[in-house]
Amino acid sequence: MTKPLYVSLGLMSGTSADGIDAALIRSDGEDTVETLAAAFVPYPDDFRKRLLVCAQQHQQDDAVRADFSRWSQNACENILTQSGIQPDFIASHGHTLDHRPDLGWTHQMDDPAALASRFGIPVVSDFRQKDMQNGGQGAPLVPVYHRVRGRGHPKPLAIVNIGGVSNVTLIDENDAMIAFDAGPGNALMDDVLQKTVGARYDHGGALALSGTPHQDLAEALLLDPFFLKRGPKSLDRNHFAQRAGVLDGLSLTDRLATLAQITALAIARGIVMHQPHCAECLLVGGGRKNKAIVDVLSQNLPCPVRDGDAAGFDSDFMEAEAFAYLGIRSFLGLPYSFPETTGVRVPTCGGVWTYP
Ligand SMILES: Nc1ncnc2c1ncn2[C@@H]1O[C@H](COP(=O)(O)OP(=O)(O)O)[C@@H](O)[C@H]1O
Ligand SMILES: [Mg+2]
Repeated sequence: MTKPLYVSLGLMSGTSADGIDAALIRSDGEDTVETLAAAFVPYPDDFRKRLLVCAQQHQQDDAVRADFSRWSQNACENILTQSGIQPDFIASHGHTLDHRPDLGWTHQMDDPAALASRFGIPVVSDFRQKDMQNGGQGAPLVPVYHRVRGRGHPKPLAIVNIGGVSNVTLIDENDAMIAFDAGPGNALMDDVLQKTVGARYDHGGALALSGTPHQDLAEALLLDPFFLKRGPKSLDRNHFAQRAGVLDGLSLTDRLATLAQITALAIARGIVMHQPHCAECLLVGGGRKNKAIVDVLSQNLPCPVRDGDAAGFDSDFMEAEAFAYLGIRSFLGLPYSFPETTGVRVPTCGGVWTYP
């Protein structure tokens, strides 16, 4: 018997705070996935700054939340107009304000009630809480989606998402997964650029490529216990912000080169520590466009490193697609986090449903 298919609209506001990614998929929540539409709604500079202040201070702010709600609704509107398809539900991740698995809490800014009334369909949100209640890290949650999309690729396969934070999913020949946050992604580099020259990011990694990494400082920062721990493990966007202050004396380009080096080495060493024999490494997320990161990754991994787009993914939207997929799994009561991906005690299904 064929399983029923659901259309789910996933919304993701990543830790880079660059904007909202939205993706529409049709899936049975298991092996069948069809991507239908995708949209990116960038945040204006002013809103981005206000959102980042909330994340830095771990504070909700009603005015910022009201604006966040509008951006989320715009992203949905965009998808509905583009596709002409009415989803069965919306799966909204929200924007993480605080993520502290050591203390057992994770908070996202989100407005599921407004989404549900505006679009007249159920909304599932708060994806991380249940995992944490069951002893998990609450992150990463995308591996179960990576596993489906990784079908047909050589194994062992590494899928690396480089966003504000970077996370790795390893899938072996038996479809077994290992997952972990590898370390800071672009967030540290983005913050340096914002503070020094007011730019959002290092386009293509051009500035980092023109600098020279300070090897000793990079290795000193890589001694942080977070990097030496085995997965599952997860990281708050701001964990390294203070520690990276030791690079303040370097020129801007050397500082960016050193941060790119740290980001890439953390990923490469994390992969090799958990799986020394990867056949292929596929990159998704905005950080894959930073050539300084990709070069160091390629030099430090024993397998080909490829842009996910070349492997048939829509690499900018994998996370939004993943939350759309998790929404379907939540609806069906299927687990989406596992002891080997988040450290949760038992395979766990989460998500909180809000109805129109
Ligand atoms: N053309 C580019 N060159 C270099 N870096 C880029 C480029 N485009 C995006 N990025 C980086 O990707 C980040 C956004 O990636 P994304 O996957 O959306 O992360 P997140 O999930 O944290 O929002 C930006 O903040 C920036 O650092
Ligand atoms: Mg983003």
